[in-house]
Parts: sequence; structure tokens; C-alpha cells
Amino acid sequence: ESLKAIFADSYHIGVALNAWQVNSTDAKVNAVIQENFNSLSPENGLKWERVHPEPEQYNFDFGDQYVALGEKMDAFTIGHCLVWHQQTPRWVFQGEDNAPKSKEALLATMEEHIEAVAGRYKGKIQGWDVVNEAFNEDGSFRQSAWFKIAGKDFMKAAFRKAQEVDPEAELYYNDYNVWRASKRKGILDFAKEMVAEGIKVDAIGMQGHYQLETPTLEEIEQGIIDIHEAGFKVMITELDVDVLPRPRRAEGADLNMNFANSDEYNPYKDGITPEAEAKLAERYAAIFKIYEKHKDKITRVTFWGLGDRNSWLNNFPVRGRTNYPLLFDRNLDPKTEVIAKIASV
Ligand code: G3I
Repeated sequence: ESLKAIFADSYHIGVALNAWQVNSTDAKVNAVIQENFNSLSPENGLKWERVHPEPEQYNFDFGDQYVALGEKMDAFTIGHCLVWHQQTPRWVFQGEDNAPKSKEALLATMEEHIEAVAGRYKGKIQGWDVVNEAFNEDGSFRQSAWFKIAGKDFMKAAFRKAQEVDPEAELYYNDYNVWRASKRKGILDFAKEMVAEGIKVDAIGMQGHYQLETPTLEEIEQGIIDIHEAGFKVMITELDVDVLPRPRRAEGADLNMNFANSDEYNPYKDGITPEAEAKLAERYAAIFKIYEKHKDKITRVTFWGLGDRNSWLNNFPVRGRTNYPLLFDRNLDPKTEVIAKIASV
């Protein structure tokens, strides 16, 4: 059974795609996307450095193909992301003399970008990650270039501009580790402050980059409950489950090396064992059991990638590994036992 059919009564089921997937000539790629998903996210193609690499240069090739696929599939099509501290060119923050821009100049640059990108896809992108990852784990604002120059006003200005440019689009704040109480409190306090000032914030995206053991199910569930109680929709925006052990610098691992040949940290290079796949199935089923319990609060669950082969987790936090975080394997075949277990919750 297809993923979107399994969850038809619950929430949209989404997938993050890259350029070769939105415009693929491979029938299998197209079939897996179109049969299983009713929401799309752009994994990298609408990030600032891709779409607006130079002050006067916009690259809309990916975006145009992406929204065309979304329209063809009648999918709930997401934009990711308008404002982030990563994958943003240096010129955004610096003037011609390489000195930091003034607050006014930076916000003008940001607003022009939002106008150009969200404006082009008005009516074609139904929800935008307006600001991505602006908070620290303790709930304080990240000391990004955005924050250092413009303070927390950068976030308010971004949401205001997005609302002005496309009043119909849903607007989201998106972050990882939203299950962590301290971080979540900072996010929700600020989101409520924005709403009190008349700024539209529709949902908080909990990215959902999980491991087999962490975070706990209780932490995930509390995150969903708190976001809902604060008055926002909940979206699981970047779901995957890392099945590999995390190398840690503190434990002596050299994170700069390629880990392809590591027996300790890349144990399933020749294929995942049945035991490990069973753990993956259990973890996914337990997570979806919580999502189903709170399906009145959750409007979308998006997987961060189509199949294991192209997942970012093959190269995070170290390069060269063979990871198994998604529901379609390296040949894009469905992991039928994992999916069956999820479907049974
Ligand atoms: O396309 C270039 C290629 O030309 C070049 O040869 C190669 C060499 O490094 O890099 C390729 O670009 C990489 C790109 O992924 C496409 O594979 C970048 O280096 C790499 O940094 C980039 O990583 C992306 C990452 O965001 C950037 O921070 C991941 O694919 C993407 O999955 C990841 O997604 C983020 C979300 O946007 C926000 N939340 C966290 C999530 C995971 O980090």
C-alpha cells in the first residue's frame, strides 16, 4: 500500500526532492514519488545560494520544475527556506567594501529576496519555511549573521514580508531538536510574541532528524502537545532515522576522515542486517503511533529524502557511510516490512 494511502485520513505525507528527481526520466523514480507522496519539499534547490547566488542573479530552473511537478501531482507544495544562516552567500551580509551591511541594508536585501522568490511562486507554493534554525539549544537566539546585524527583528521582518507577498501561503518557523524543552520554549515564546504583534505564523516545523534511541518518545510527544497548546499547527518537516552509531570527537573519532571502511561506525556497508532493519521498523512504528495519536494537531509528515542512496545521512556527521534512514532502499524499492509495521499502528 502506498504511504499516502496509509495516512490518507491523518496528514499529508511529503518527500524532499532534488533536481534530478523533479525532472527525472527514470520511470521508477517518478512512480515512487507520485504513488507515495502528496506533499513535496525542495531539499536544496530553493535555498538562497542556489536560487540567488549573486545580487542580480536568480536561478529559477529548479524551482520552476519543482512547482510544475507539484501542480501535476496536485501536491501540497512547500518552499524551503527563505531565511537561514547556512547556504547563504556572503554578499548577503556584506557590502561592496566587505564590511558588514547595516541593519537597514540587510533587511532590504532579505525583503527583496522574499519578494522575488515567494512572489514568483505565489499560488504555487502553499507553505513556506520562512525562517529556519534561528534558535540555540538553550532557547536563546543563534548568533547568526542575521541576528548579529539585525537582532530578532530579522525574523519579524521576514514573516511580515512573506505574508505581504503571498497572503494565502502558510508560513512556518522550522527547526531541529524542537523536542528539547529549552529550545522549544525559546521558539514558542518568540512565535507567540510575533502573533501578538499581528504577524502570521501558521505552524512550527519539528524537523525530525532522529536516531534509533534518541530522542525519547515522550520528548517527541511533548513537543507536539506544546506546539499545539501554543496555538500553532504541528508539522514534521524532515523525518529520517539514523541507524548508524554516532562517532564523537570526544571519544577520539577523527570526524574529518572518510568513514566508508570503518567497521565500528559503518557496520552495514554491505547491507543492513535483519536485526537492524527490525529496529528501524520498531522505531518508525513507535514514532508514527505518536503521530497518529495526535493526528488532530499534525497536518504533514515529510521524509527528508526519497531513498537511502541519496540521504544526507550518508555524509553526516561524517562522510562516506552507508545509512538506511528512509522507507525506500538504495534501489528505491519499498522496505515492505518497515512500511507494514508503520501501517499497523
Ligand atoms: O551539489 C554540490 C556538488 O556540486 C559538490 O561537488 C559537492 C561537494 O561537497 O557538494 C554538493 O552540494 C552539497 C549539497 O548538499 C547537495 O548534495 C553540499 O556540499 C552539502 O552541504 C549539501 O548538504 C545539504 C545540507 O542541508 C546543507 O546544509 C543536504 O543535502 C540537505 O539535506 C541538508 O538539509 C538540511 C535542511 O535544509 C535544514 N535542516 C537540516 C537538514 C539536514 O542538514
